[in-house]
Amino acid sequence: MIENSELIKLALEARRMAYAPYSGFKVGAALLTKEGKVYQGCNIENAGYTPTNCAERTAFFKAVSEGEREFEAIAIVGGKGELPDDYAWPCGVCRQVMMEFCDPKSFRVITAVSETEFVERTLSEMLPHGFGPNNL
Ligand code: THU
Repeated sequence: MIENSELIKLALEARRMAYAPYSGFKVGAALLTKEGKVYQGCNIENAGYTPTNCAERTAFFKAVSEGEREFEAIAIVGGKGELPDDYAWPCGVCRQVMMEFCDPKSFRVITAVSETEFVERTLSEMLPHGFGPNNL
């Protein structure tokens, strides 16, 4: 069982790898699978702007490309400073990617400014009436 504080620590570690020369907004994510494995991700910007990938999607795509399909929670940290100073919430595109692979009622989104200061919401709270695989 991985505590939220441990997952946040791994998100803070991932944030150090953020490639954000254009916005300066560095984001880190740590995605926990149901089996207890963690995949880290950072945002990766691009001179063409639109190819930019968010930290959350980097973590998801790393995990899914390794065969993972079942997820428990994701911790997210972001900000322009050396350390995050406000809660970074996932963008709409990342919420939709979560909707593809996660149970909206139980998947936990944890946004944090430190290992002890965080807010936790379920995916369904973040994306009410979302469209997912069960709708097709
Ligand atoms: N970003 C993320 O990594 N995750 C989010 O959910 C919101 C935005 C990144 C994308 C871009 O590199 C920078 O933050 C500013 O939008």
